[in-house]
Amino acid sequence: MPALYALAVRRLLPPRFAIVGVARTEGDDDSWRKEMEQAVKEHARDEFRQDVWSELAEAMRYVSTDFADEGGEDKLEERIEACEREQDLGGNRVYYLAVPPPAFPTIVEALGKRKDDRGWTRVIVEKPFGHDLQSALALNELLRGHFQEDEIFRIDHYLGKETVQNMLALRFANGIFEPIWNRQFVDHVQITVAESIGIEGRAGYYEAAGAVRDIFQNHLLQLLALTAMEPPVEFTAESVRNEKVKVLRALHTPGPKSVVRGQYGRGFVEGEEVVAYREEKGVASDSTTETYVAAKLFVDNWRWADTPFYVRMGKRLARRETTIAIQFKAAPHPPFEESAAEGLRPNVLLIHVQPDEGVSLAIGVKVPGQGMQIRTVHMDFLYGGAFRTGMPEAYERLILDVMLGEATLFTRADEIEEQWLLVDAIVAAWQRDKPGFPNYAAGTWGPPSADDLLHRDGRSWRRH
Ligand code: BG6
Repeated sequence: MPALYALAVRRLLPPRFAIVGVARTEGDDDSWRKEMEQAVKEHARDEFRQDVWSELAEAMRYVSTDFADEGGEDKLEERIEACEREQDLGGNRVYYLAVPPPAFPTIVEALGKRKDDRGWTRVIVEKPFGHDLQSALALNELLRGHFQEDEIFRIDHYLGKETVQNMLALRFANGIFEPIWNRQFVDHVQITVAESIGIEGRAGYYEAAGAVRDIFQNHLLQLLALTAMEPPVEFTAESVRNEKVKVLRALHTPGPKSVVRGQYGRGFVEGEEVVAYREEKGVASDSTTETYVAAKLFVDNWRWADTPFYVRMGKRLARRETTIAIQFKAAPHPPFEESAAEGLRPNVLLIHVQPDEGVSLAIGVKVPGQGMQIRTVHMDFLYGGAFRTGMPEAYERLILDVMLGEATLFTRADEIEEQWLLVDAIVAAWQRDKPGFPNYAAGTWGPPSADDLLHRDGRSWRRH
């Protein structure tokens, strides 16, 4: 709703338009409007404007139903048809399924059955897309039984983030990066998706998902794919996704020593004392669900062979930070005395996905004054400084793209399947032994074994 509100503020929604909210909670149009008004006031990036809200609220309807109920779908259909009649909407529909995965089959069947050719029908499927490869294959088959691929939008909201899309601009709109974007010049890549928040009351979902299904399988692997992909021929859904899937296919299954999992214990996050994961409401006191994953991955192709991609993600870490760091090889022969270059580190191109969105390049420069001392400094580009407009939320772009039928920023079936293939192999190895959880304190940067993963290679995680 905050995303739809932001679109309404910018007059980007179609002039004739309706939103029908469906959930099990009892309620009516007015109670839902009130609840959403509150949500928009709290979460929208724009100041609240009564005139914009009133117009949007007028287009909102609510249906309380359970899809498992006989007749639930009829109730919804009646409501939608009434909207279409009253406002002469012409039959174009977007169904947004932000529902628990077990509900997908019933809903997809019901929607598929009622599809007609009065207008287009598109369906947005929220993550997690299945629970493993097998369930994802089944869900893809079910969807394909009722919808064409170009009517299915598998959402991964990281692809809607400005800074993630900027990875494509940075790489392919500039001539200087591509020639050195490979194993000859890059020492390794580090991708971090760190969150300071915990599970935010979502134990029911998170206990079954864990960090590997919640973030690694989707957001993280997509960031990796965009970093490692070949230049697409054109910026179209098929070209971009063809290149991404090649990277996912080339990912080498990591051995057990190359993957670290963790779970947070008690600690302090941003000055506040927080409970251990096992003490969160709804979490089993002996839960073995991981809240942290780090891994060393390899992309087995000509561009990247033998170049490690170190990735890590976790909840209740010291800070919220999503970054992609391309660490280049050190200069082959610096002609300075060793003591002069003590403060020099290899070049790093750092993409700040969030917060403090921007790009930063670490370079060595001479310290002013006598002699020749060299130190690393940063050349920074900050969105906030370069562009005066605020950053749009990912969902604004993505919801609008669905209405326009633009699928470039959505994941295709084959990408999701490749992602699961890797995750299934990681999870299978975990079944063999019981982890010693908790193994990191909330508010730290994860378990010590994650540091060892890099130390073994003579490297370390980027300093914070
Ligand atoms: C969601 C995960 O997909 O992404 C959450 O389910 C996570 O667990 C969230 O907190 C992070 O999104 P963002 O945009 O805040 O980085």
